[in-house]
Amino acid sequence: MAAREPVVTVALDPDWASGALVEDVRRGLGSQPRTLPPKWLYDDVGSELFDAITRLPEYYPTECERAILRDHADDIVAACDATTVVELGSGTSDKTRTLLDAFTATGRLRRFVPVDVSDATLRQAAAELSARYPSITVEALVGDFTLHLGHLPRGDRRLVAFLGGTIGNFYLEERAAFLGALADSLEPGDWFLLGTDLVKSSDRLIAAYDDSRGVTAAFVTNCLHVLNRELDADFDVEAFSYVPFWDPRMERMDLRLRADMPQRVRVPGAGIEFDLAHGEEIRVEISTKFRPERIRDELAAAGFSVERTWTDEGGDFAVTLARLAG
Ligand code: SAH
Ligand code: AVI
Repeated sequence: MAAREPVVTVALDPDWASGALVEDVRRGLGSQPRTLPPKWLYDDVGSELFDAITRLPEYYPTECERAILRDHADDIVAACDATTVVELGSGTSDKTRTLLDAFTATGRLRRFVPVDVSDATLRQAAAELSARYPSITVEALVGDFTLHLGHLPRGDRRLVAFLGGTIGNFYLEERAAFLGALADSLEPGDWFLLGTDLVKSSDRLIAAYDDSRGVTAAFVTNCLHVLNRELDADFDVEAFSYVPFWDPRMERMDLRLRADMPQRVRVPGAGIEFDLAHGEEIRVEISTKFRPERIRDELAAAGFSVERTWTDEGGDFAVTLARLAG
């Protein structure tokens, strides 16, 4: 069968990178505690840095999830009757290929819909996937999974995959809102495949988020370059240190940038300026780690019932198959 071109739909407004960023910067950086949503980490450079993170020896989640998918792709395919697979925050869809191999082997899968804000990464992945799977259509959606779930295709029985532990990058209330919106966008009987990183020793977590090569530090710091470029901000990027720590109460990694000297920051594109004191921090990302009960309870609150859960041998990561109740 000849390879088809992927269909690429862009749901993001042309001015998304500036418009939504302006709002996020005003809301997040203009008030205390200073924060930024992690989606701004993934420009082309950030996406490449994340890809490099997934190959770091200290960053265990990718390989753990890959092992689970390798060992259980056939079980997932046997358990669910999906004919369309959607992947949210798909990135390179690297691990997802194991799942798509198993799905296409059945001849049942009709369509794969990767969704990501990172336009170039998504287009590249969609082209590769179209060539690899000529029997299905690849319909990529350049979109924000907190805004554009209404654009997901309807009609088929769907499996929505949300892998990598990306759900842990939401704050608690964002997670509930996301799961509720996802449930609203699906039909009863549709499937949800969720990858979650599990609570473990703080030493291993800190090693995973403070790697010896400084790739994670570069990834987190990249958000300042994004603001300097997109909004003409004047962050002195060299004058920040990367500060990752484990928050045992919230059971999450907390990834911050700390100003090593006082600085006045102007962000003309957002019409704000503010002073950062010596030692003041900007929280750029959290990465929540889960316990099985919490996964089950949060899914249940949104109307999903857990059908199966798989973990890797070491019990570091979980992949949960859930179904939207009728
Ligand atoms: N699923 C892949 C990639 C995880 S990295 C894996 O498991 O390795 C997180 C991905 O989510 C990145 O590709 C990033 O561009 C994307 N992303 C982050 N915030 C997003 C948002 N709000 N909407 C859509 N994609 C988002
Ligand atoms: C995409 N997400 C699941 C990663 C994580 O582990 O929270 C992002 C990341 N941040 C630093 N390292 C990896």
